[in-house]
Amino acid sequence: MIMQNKNIIIGMTGGIAAYKTAELVRGLCNLKAKVRVIMTKNSEEFITPLTMQTLSGEPVYTELFKTHFRKNLEHIALSRFADAVVVAPASANFIAKLTHGLADDLLSAVCLATTAPIAVVPAMNKEMWQAAITQENIAALKKRNIFVFGPASGEQACGEVGFGRMIEPQEILKLIPKMFESQLFYGKKIVITAGPTRENIDPVRYISNYSSSKMGYALAEAALEAGAYVVLISGPTNLDCSTKIKHINIHTAEEMHKAVMQEISACDVFISAAAVSDYRPANSSSQKTKKGTERISIELKRNPDILSAVTSLKRKIFVVGFAAETKNLVANAKEKLINKKLNMIIANKVGSGLGLGFDSDDNEVVILHKNGKSVKFPKMRKNKLARELIKTIRSAMLS
Ligand code: PMT
Repeated sequence: MIMQNKNIIIGMTGGIAAYKTAELVRGLCNLKAKVRVIMTKNSEEFITPLTMQTLSGEPVYTELFKTHFRKNLEHIALSRFADAVVVAPASANFIAKLTHGLADDLLSAVCLATTAPIAVVPAMNKEMWQAAITQENIAALKKRNIFVFGPASGEQACGEVGFGRMIEPQEILKLIPKMFESQLFYGKKIVITAGPTRENIDPVRYISNYSSSKMGYALAEAALEAGAYVVLISGPTNLDCSTKIKHINIHTAEEMHKAVMQEISACDVFISAAAVSDYRPANSSSQKTKKGTERISIELKRNPDILSAVTSLKRKIFVVGFAAETKNLVANAKEKLINKKLNMIIANKVGSGLGLGFDSDDNEVVILHKNGKSVKFPKMRKNKLARELIKTIRSAMLS
């Protein structure tokens, strides 16, 4: 589940082990990751871009500059797309380039431009691996938190035996999820709400909103990656989450309120990403309402404010709210931050045609801290943003 919808760039450099990368790409696609392959000129001597394109189902990228105009330069667009970059096979030459920040081809330029985690999977002759300069380069990469998977020992393409063989695709598949894990929230409990609530008018009709749950689910996965014990309380959605997350389904705001209050004990962080209905029909009919007069009215009554209920508890919990606004984003969010006594509020603009906020894969937010500080996050995919938010929450808790 952890690899589902993750955007992985597989970089291939020149080496006979390139044939194993074909199996790696297939394995990642089977885990439902979205894979894009970048090949260096030398790697094309060992395997064709067509093979990799067929396996990944995406065009293969080979050139740093194309002659036709593009709004986004290829290396920048790819570096933003990546949740992780895995270079397999990684030649001694590529490792040296990465160590020294060279960017003379598409793959090295993407590695320099990305903020996503990078892994190299070395594959080379044993003498090249043992060379002092290669070992120095590897040590420098590790110091910069670049993952180094392998190499293994065994028979090499040149007929010699020793360290330098690329590890097997199945091993690489087991190691890639580690690139997303951190221990930022190890031993902490995080309760997250997501999605819409449905307030019944009668047994077949309800009042709701356009929340898809994507933001809340992305936060839950990011919190899990950060080592937290995660409870996700969600309104109706068709999204799946990791089986390691405790998942509670609710329909109404009252049910969400009850579930949050049951889970809040021993909780360290509460994140309210749900679009909770502020009102519900005062009298929900037990029978389907029949068509009658030209106009009918539905009387609404206030739902409990879940965030305020949590912040009024004696036990101190770090509480993060969201503010979904169509205008006066920062001013309205600030008011909610203060009124609901939150530690932090994440303000996002919502409305039709924005491609942001409700029911979109992307979001753009401003974080307002209790201490008056504010930070803007530009438009990005919700799962990438969620990881940034989880890191920001941890630093705010520690400051
Ligand atoms: O689900 P997606 O399609 O991915 O969309 C994400 C999102 C736009 C729903 C999400 O990013 C978001 O903004 N969630 C909060 C939406 C909302 O209800 O905002 P609000 O400004 O009306 O409420 C402010 C805060 O109070 C929210 O944290 C809300 O969860 C909370 N609240 C609201 C009402 C209520 N009765 N109890 C609450 O705790």
